[in-house]
Amino acid sequence: MKEQISNIRTAAEAELAQVSAPDALEALRVKYLGKKGELTAVLKGMGGLSAEERPVVGALANEVREFLEEHIETRRSALESEILTAKIANEKIDVTMPGKRGSLGRIHPLNAVLAQLEDIFIGMGFSISEGPEVEFDYYNFEALNIPKDHPARDTQDTFYVSDNIVLRTQTSPVQIRVMEQEAPPIRIIAPGRVYRSDAVDATHSPVFHQIEGLVIDKGVTMADLKGTLEIFVRELYGEKTKLRFRPHHFPFTEPSAEVDISCFSCGGSGCRICKNEGWIEILGAGMVHPEVLRRCNIDPEVYSGFAFGIGLERVAMFKYDIDDMRLFYENDVRFLMQF
Ligand code: DAH
Repeated sequence: MKEQISNIRTAAEAELAQVSAPDALEALRVKYLGKKGELTAVLKGMGGLSAEERPVVGALANEVREFLEEHIETRRSALESEILTAKIANEKIDVTMPGKRGSLGRIHPLNAVLAQLEDIFIGMGFSISEGPEVEFDYYNFEALNIPKDHPARDTQDTFYVSDNIVLRTQTSPVQIRVMEQEAPPIRIIAPGRVYRSDAVDATHSPVFHQIEGLVIDKGVTMADLKGTLEIFVRELYGEKTKLRFRPHHFPFTEPSAEVDISCFSCGGSGCRICKNEGWIEILGAGMVHPEVLRRCNIDPEVYSGFAFGIGLERVAMFKYDIDDMRLFYENDVRFLMQF
């Protein structure tokens, strides 16, 4: 039996030297020291030994068990640290390698045009005002002479938050808010997002942008409106740009006009961009209606003023020769990188 035990030890030691993975090591432990292991089996068979032999064999068996336990443990921690070392070596990061450069975006064409437009008006002494996009029906319509049954509401159908609260259809309500808050002289532009329940196509979007303008002072006339807009279009589209006022109707201005510029591409002779008209419509304008002034506690006998509303998308489309408005909102970098 002693011989059997020392054979086990020799065999186990030889196998241990070969083990190179934790799984194999565990299998080896079970093979010799497990419940049904070889050494365990020998110990179980000790009942058949004589009283003298039993302690001697028992001591030897225990010694071999301890020996194996110890060596298996040592091998286990050696294997674990080998694995860890390999893992660390594998996952090593060279912190001195050059990094990947994050790609930098551009200023969106709408923002670029807006910034240019703001610069032009600030240069003429305007300041910038803002109003809420979720607006009272009163500011968006009523105070601008558009009562509930007015046909102008049809062309400016919008999203109703409640009976009295809408997503603003125009930046014109900012006029009212400014006139309620400030005493003349007033000289502001109010850029912002506006909403209409329009279906999406190349020239329509349910969300787009306008820039409102408002000037109120003593003795302001249509000549001031014309002069202001002339400076504006020349700076934006070039020195040679001409203006044309066409009579129009807006409920909150009287008189009102739609304003065209001579085509910056062909100079007026007719081309693809102006659809052979020679002129391009870019904004609506007029003299602020006395009723609107009165509603804001500004005396129309003392003060007068003009207002205008510019469509930002339209201005940008003409400036960059963009033929589909949807391109502004899709944010395809291939489009955006061109500006
Ligand atoms: N708010 C008008 C629209 O969305 C545009 C406009 C026209 C604004 C005339 C004005 C103005 O301030 O005077 O159609």
